[in-house]
Amino acid sequence: MGATQGAAGIASWLQAHEDKPLLRFITCGSVDDGKSTLIGRLLHESKRLFDDQLAALEADSRRHGTQDGRIDYALLLDGLAAEREQGITIDVAYRYFDTDKRKFIVADCPGHEQYTRNMATGASTADLAVVLVDARKGLLPQTRRHSYIVSLLGIGQVVLAVNKMDLVGYDRALFEGIAAGYRELAAQLGIARVQAIPLSALEGDNLLQRSPNTPWYDGPALLPHLEAVDAGDRGAAGSLRLPVQWVNRPHQDFRGFAGTIACGQVAPGDEVVVLPSARRSKVAQVLGPGGDPLPRAGAGQAVTLTLADEIDVGRGDVIAAASDPPPVADQFAAHILWMGDAPLLPGRPYWLKIGTRTVAASVSEIKYRVDVNTQEHLAAKRLELNEVGCCNLSLEQPIAFAPYAQDRTLGGFILIDRQDNDTVAAGTLDFALRRADNVHWQHLDVDKAARARIKGQAPKVLWFTGLSGAGKSTVANLVDKRLHALGYHTFVLDGDNVRHGLNRDLGFTDEDRVENIRRVAEVARLMADAGLIVLVSFISPFRAERRMARERFAEGEFVEVFVDVPLEVAEARDAKGLYRKARAGLIPNFTGIDSPYEVPERPELHLDATAAPEALVARVLQAMGLD
Ligand code: ADX
Repeated sequence: MGATQGAAGIASWLQAHEDKPLLRFITCGSVDDGKSTLIGRLLHESKRLFDDQLAALEADSRRHGTQDGRIDYALLLDGLAAEREQGITIDVAYRYFDTDKRKFIVADCPGHEQYTRNMATGASTADLAVVLVDARKGLLPQTRRHSYIVSLLGIGQVVLAVNKMDLVGYDRALFEGIAAGYRELAAQLGIARVQAIPLSALEGDNLLQRSPNTPWYDGPALLPHLEAVDAGDRGAAGSLRLPVQWVNRPHQDFRGFAGTIACGQVAPGDEVVVLPSARRSKVAQVLGPGGDPLPRAGAGQAVTLTLADEIDVGRGDVIAAASDPPPVADQFAAHILWMGDAPLLPGRPYWLKIGTRTVAASVSEIKYRVDVNTQEHLAAKRLELNEVGCCNLSLEQPIAFAPYAQDRTLGGFILIDRQDNDTVAAGTLDFALRRADNVHWQHLDVDKAARARIKGQAPKVLWFTGLSGAGKSTVANLVDKRLHALGYHTFVLDGDNVRHGLNRDLGFTDEDRVENIRRVAEVARLMADAGLIVLVSFISPFRAERRMARERFAEGEFVEVFVDVPLEVAEARDAKGLYRKARAGLIPNFTGIDSPYEVPERPELHLDATAAPEALVARVLQAMGLD
């Protein structure tokens, strides 16, 4: 058996080597450091490549003109890399190989800064990192960057592979200087264990066994070291944590809660608590994948639990040991590595997926950005692709969690864009913010319904969106006048006006517009709670924020009115003279000119605003059933 890849390949490979312990590791470095050669060599030297795969690769090497039919290891790797695992959108090549003692999964990620996100993807499941440096160059900014990501993602042990020792005459002092420098860096980053190894991947020095070329080196060779290191057995110790993946209900009398045990053990009779609801019960049965009852199961096993009581458990809940449950919170300090092409904007909602649970969440504040090369803290209002930030996170619902340093499953998350479902960030929870515990919802006896009833109306929000100059405020003002005359209790929130007071501190960058809309949506909600009919007239150019606003309101309460004119018409009107200035370059980030307007996809009302305002007013009133 040997190295293979692909979804079907990994399944059969894991099965064939079930009994051998697994080590997952990541290699960090660039092609220049000899990374491809190193991995190619490891795969090949383990002498366990599938014969046909090997033959094909050898043929490939010959075709590409390698002298004497020797395998060009870098080429070999590129060949393998061509068949990337299906379903992984972020390019990380996973390779599988084994020796007599152990099986290995290597995540091979590109090393350049623009691939930081790829590296984080590979690192998120690794037990160990092999950090490559070129002996001639020593520690580089990229070494620091790689090591920072390694520490951020909780990998506690590193092999510092000082490669190309053959090119520096196997110089002991040089090696020891690099190793000492790295130990200092590792200590700063909190990486506990470092093994530095002088290597020549090309010549095979210290790869499989100690090399006669480095008699002064008394540590292990690379492969024996990888075979011997402690994989950390994450989750074996600790109390039970089972994130529920699905509820299995084949018939009326059976309800099983299926998932993979993230941590601890479980046996029938154990007292458990379901989070975040905090309902308690006892484990009735522990069932294996085939439905077979098990006396006990532990971390890493896929099981189905049945409980003694009929309590409500759903996908995304965590079943935990009742004696030691994880905390529950909805606000956190977290580190986020941004992977999206569009920047992270504070206040914008994303899906946060943690364990098996998905909730809406937004970054309430970016405390600082971390320069991944120097670990310096820098001020930031947004995070761009491949940037790391320390942020406060606010979730729409509470979750059971653990700091990432303790538990990767309950402490590691991803953020997903809600429009296109792309993964846009990987993150680690650091700790819960206290304010989540200390601020409670105050119950008020006079509620929204009572406030609306006394006004004889149903609260509504008419959300007018469209380009500057489309006529939003004109129409909103006329509708307001009519409603007022009819005896309704109304209020108009107008972008220009609100920006004179509450939102005086905001400009027109994307992040400021997000915050502008977040605040006005909250104000509109308070006003709807007060029983009012609220007319909001803001450009509100982004779908994500209009959707966020919509989600603040009950079904049917929020009416999105798209006041639609072609840009040319708005520009020709230019009532405030702003388009002219924007075209002259005097107003940056002007909507429609150099800042986008995302057209509503399904507005309740789509007005052709080239028509006269009175006609549009009639349509709005008609839509409200007031004509
Ligand atoms: S929004 O995009 O954040 O929703 P808002 O509706 O509050 O914008 O404010 C838009 C108004 O601000 C416009 O009607 C215009 O008068 C003024 N304005 C000033 N600068 C800009 C700009 N760069 N882009 C758009 N509107 C601007």
